[in-house]
Amino acid sequence: MIDLHCHILPGIDDGPATIEDSLALARAAAACGTRTILATSHVSWRYPNDHQTLARLTAELNARLRAEAIELRVLTGAEIAMTYAMEAEPAELSRLGLGGGRWVLIEPPFTQVVGNLDLLLVNLQRAGLRVVLAHPERCPAFHRDPQMLRSLVDSGILTSITAGSLVGRFGGEVRRFALELMHEGTVHNVASDAHDHLRRAPGIAQELERSGFAPLTAWLTEEVPSAIINDQEIPPRPAHASSRESSSRWLPWLRRKRIRRVS
Ligand SMILES: [Fe+2]
Repeated sequence: MIDLHCHILPGIDDGPATIEDSLALARAAAACGTRTILATSHVSWRYPNDHQTLARLTAELNARLRAEAIELRVLTGAEIAMTYAMEAEPAELSRLGLGGGRWVLIEPPFTQVVGNLDLLLVNLQRAGLRVVLAHPERCPAFHRDPQMLRSLVDSGILTSITAGSLVGRFGGEVRRFALELMHEGTVHNVASDAHDHLRRAPGIAQELERSGFAPLTAWLTEEVPSAIINDQEIPPRPAHASSRESSSRWLPWLRRKRIRRVS
């Protein structure tokens, strides 16, 4: 598996404090079946990390992984806050791509309104970048206006949701929305967004299994992320027989919930 969103580099954000903590997270990820992790440390006004720092720490961590015989490789990346991306130089953003490529992971704010997100995304695309949106299921603005998210997906944005969202780790509202997005096919990747090896651990497959999406595991966690980091065409979502059955079972319930929320 490829974990497209993980805070594994030490000492530069709210992830591991030391390289020993990073190694503990790496061992937990390898035990879960992950073989490649994108080191998506925060790049934001709170954590204004630059690409040189991220590249140096990634190289240091890979050296330790080899020395400790941990079967995991770490690639460079970043989780770029929307508010930071709006002010940053395009040249710097282009050096923060996932796996060094042209796809960037953008984090929308956890607010009721996301301001000029669509304008930012258009500008990034004009600058030659492609956008993966980090955990939109946790963004209140998308809860209020899911059509906004669907429009972004229609315009070529990919979405990466957090595995824990599918099993209620961020509350019932986030779980309901995550399931809705999964059932309607607006999710392209499920990642751990792990920050440590215990509290926000690096599991993905177990959460997909528990939420009924095990048949999509290979597409969500290998095929799509591999295409992203290798700048290849995104493979189409495979037919998922149980998803239709699940949809007929879940969607009326989800819609009732939505109507209740809106009214
Ligand atoms: Fe994150």
